[in-house]
Amino acid sequence: MVIVVGSLNMDLVVRAPKIPRPGETVLGTDFTQIPGGKGANQADACSKLGADTKMLGAVGKDTMGSFLKESLKKDGVDVEKVLEKKDYPTGIAAIVVEDSGNNAITVAPGANSQFTTKDLAEMESVFQNADVLLVQLETPVETVREALKLAKKHNVTTILNPAPAALLDDEIFSLVDILTPNETELELLSGLPSTTKDEVKKAGQQLIEKGVSQLIITLGNKGSMHITKDFSKIYPAYSVKAIDTTAAGDSYNGALAVSLSNGASIDESIIFATKVGAMTVTKPGAQTSLPLLSEVEDFEEWYKINRFKEE
Ligand code: RIB
Repeated sequence: MVIVVGSLNMDLVVRAPKIPRPGETVLGTDFTQIPGGKGANQADACSKLGADTKMLGAVGKDTMGSFLKESLKKDGVDVEKVLEKKDYPTGIAAIVVEDSGNNAITVAPGANSQFTTKDLAEMESVFQNADVLLVQLETPVETVREALKLAKKHNVTTILNPAPAALLDDEIFSLVDILTPNETELELLSGLPSTTKDEVKKAGQQLIEKGVSQLIITLGNKGSMHITKDFSKIYPAYSVKAIDTTAAGDSYNGALAVSLSNGASIDESIIFATKVGAMTVTKPGAQTSLPLLSEVEDFEEWYKINRFKEE
C-alpha cells in the first residue's frame, strides 16, 4: 500500500502561444479546470498504476474540494483521510501552458497550508500497513517532517519529492530513503551548481553526506540519474513530443512508489517510472494525463507510434 501525504489543487489552466514575461499580457487560446496538486497527482498516478493508495491532506469545504475528492475516488484512491477545512478555500494552481509544452505555475495553497502535524498524528494507524510513503513540499514542512517520522517509526520506505523547491534541514534529509529533486531543486538544496552531469553527481553526493540514503534526480528530456554513496547511473529519457509537461514529475514519483511497493528493484522501478513520465507529457493536464497500468504494459507498442521523429 502507498500513502501519499500532500496537496490537492484545482488547476486553472490557460493554453497560450508563450508564457508571458513580467508585465506582459498574452492572448491565450483556451481555459480548462483540471484536478491537480502534486500530492493528489501522485496519488492518482499510484492508483491508476494499480496500487492500493491512500491520500492524506486537506481541501476546503467547498465545491472544488468535493470535486477533487470525488475525482480521486473515482480513480480508486482512498480519500477518507482528506480533511475538509471549513475556514479555508480549496487550493488552486494558476497554470499557463505554452506551445512548447512547458508551463508556469503559481499555487494558492488554501486548505493545503492547514494540514497540520496534529491532523497527521491522528492518522498514525494508516502508516501501520503501508509499504511506501510519498510526500512533496506543497504542505507545511512540519507536516512533511511528521509524515517522514511516522513512516520511519512503522518501517515504511520514504520518498520525498522536494517540489516546489524549498530549503530543508538535516533532520529531514536523514528521514528520507529516496530524494527525487529536479536539477533546480537539487541546486537549491545542495547550494551547488547542478547543470552538467558531473555537477549533478557532486551536488547529489553532498545531500547523501547530509543524511539522504539515495537520490533520483529527474533531468527533463535528459532522463534521470540515480545516485547512492558509491554509485551513479544515468537512465536516458524516451524521445516523445511534449504536449504538456504538467504532472510529469508527479507521475514519475507515483510510478516509482508503486513499483517499489510491489517489491521491484530500484533499477526496474526507475525504468518503469521513465516510461510513465514519457507517456504523461504527451497528454494535456495533470490527472487527465496520467496513464493506466494497462497502457504502460503496452509501452513498447505505444512508443513505436509516439516516438518523436524530426519533420
Ligand atoms: O506538479 C504539477 C502540479 O503542481 C499541478 O497539478 C499544480 O496543481 C501544482 O501543484
